[in-house]
Amino acid sequence: MQYKKRIRLGILGAGTVGQSLIKIIEKEQNRILRNHGISIEISKVGDRSFEKKEILKKYNCTKNLNEVIEDKEIDIIVELIGGIEPARELIIKAIENHKSIVTANKALLANHGKTIFELIKQKQQNNIPITIGFEASVGGALPIIKNLRRMWSFGNIHSLVGILNGTCNFIISKMEEGLEYQEALKLAQEKGFAEADPTFDVSGKDAGQKLAIISSLASGCWIEEKDIIIEGIEKIQKIDHEIAQKWGMVIRLIAISRFYHDQLLLRVHPALISKNHLLADVRNEYNALFVEEEYSGSTFIVGKGAGGFPTASAVLADIVSIASGSKNLWFQEFGSTKLIQDADYRFYLRFQTIDKPGVLAAISRVLADFNISIASMHQEEGEEPVNVVIFTHECKESAISRALEVINQKKEIILAPTIVLRVFH
Ligand SMILES: NC(=O)c1ccc[n+]([C@@H]2O[C@H](COP(=O)([O-])OP(=O)(O)OC[C@H]3O[C@@H](n4cnc5c(N)ncnc54)[C@H](OP(=O)(O)O)[C@@H]3O)[C@@H](O)[C@H]2O)c1
Repeated sequence: MQYKKRIRLGILGAGTVGQSLIKIIEKEQNRILRNHGISIEISKVGDRSFEKKEILKKYNCTKNLNEVIEDKEIDIIVELIGGIEPARELIIKAIENHKSIVTANKALLANHGKTIFELIKQKQQNNIPITIGFEASVGGALPIIKNLRRMWSFGNIHSLVGILNGTCNFIISKMEEGLEYQEALKLAQEKGFAEADPTFDVSGKDAGQKLAIISSLASGCWIEEKDIIIEGIEKIQKIDHEIAQKWGMVIRLIAISRFYHDQLLLRVHPALISKNHLLADVRNEYNALFVEEEYSGSTFIVGKGAGGFPTASAVLADIVSIASGSKNLWFQEFGSTKLIQDADYRFYLRFQTIDKPGVLAAISRVLADFNISIASMHQEEGEEPVNVVIFTHECKESAISRALEVINQKKEIILAPTIVLRVFH
């Protein structure tokens, strides 16, 4: 079959995503040729343990990744090794060698994206027709990046609220069904939804890196991981889900980017959400993003946010788009924005206390000292520690943390650190 364009790929890293990409290319090569007139060839694969990988036997492989980025025949470097180094150094060198880049590496983009994008912009200004595709770095196969770059690129984005980590969402969903945190984590590991060391996911860091990337696109200002206040799901217990359900809510780890005139609120944290919110219906390993934008109104995207094939399909979509001539132009100048450090929320506080008169009075006195007004108070029946749950009216995050510092010191009545969750509205 005739082709309009021949594209030669250099793939760095043939692990979960890399091997899935190779499998899709092998299977769908003819369809891509038929539909797009593009012939995709895998010219070289760089991987440190390529000999052990059956699928790589028929490809030209090397352990020396520099050999791939220096190959003059290669048009697009597909970076799938992950992590910061040597991925950063290799991508920069590949751009200097006038290669377009496709990557799924959120850690790299959330920490060094600015340097990489500015370098590409510089090359484009010197008429070197290269670009970068990174759809797979946020939400796997969910069309988030392409919509931020096109569909939502001209109006004002008011907010992005997402469930951006499938591991956390799976654990939370199973806790909602009655498992304790450790049981839910174990199940996630057995099903391949959590790593042996789950810290990166359960700490909220993974969702934070993704939020940094999409917030940069939405705001036109470069946002890095360090700009985001991040809290994970490790401290939540089954009882918090039970209480949430009693109050018509569910708990989700949400990533929020909300624009207030010239200020930006960036947070990743578990939150109580009304059962009626669309995000409450996102369960198990699913990811989702809820976008509010000036012209398109509210949009909700949901789907599988990770896994070999979903992620590789997003990588391949970027390859086809670049091969079809898209230059994916960048926001031309990076602006700066003021980050909101201390936001107003309603809070859920679960105190774990002794069972004696005077406890509620002692807690409410400290809350009053910090100007925190109580919306409702409820004591769960049971053995010590007794769960005393308070929903506050809106108050500053800083007021809550200062009040809890004082309350948690009251060892004579408080038996374990207080669980704090924001109420999402
Ligand atoms: N997996 C997902 O569901 C998913 C979803 C979205 C985004 N991503 C992103 O996609 C990227 C790849 O993820 P993955 O899950 O495919 O990772 P992976 O399974 O660990 O694959 C990485 C591959 O690169 C090789 N490699 C790593 N460092 C290398 C080095 N310095 N030199 C040579 N080879 C090296 C590894 O070799 P060994 O086999 O010897 O370790 C492995 O084959 C990451 O940036 C990740 O964040 C993944």
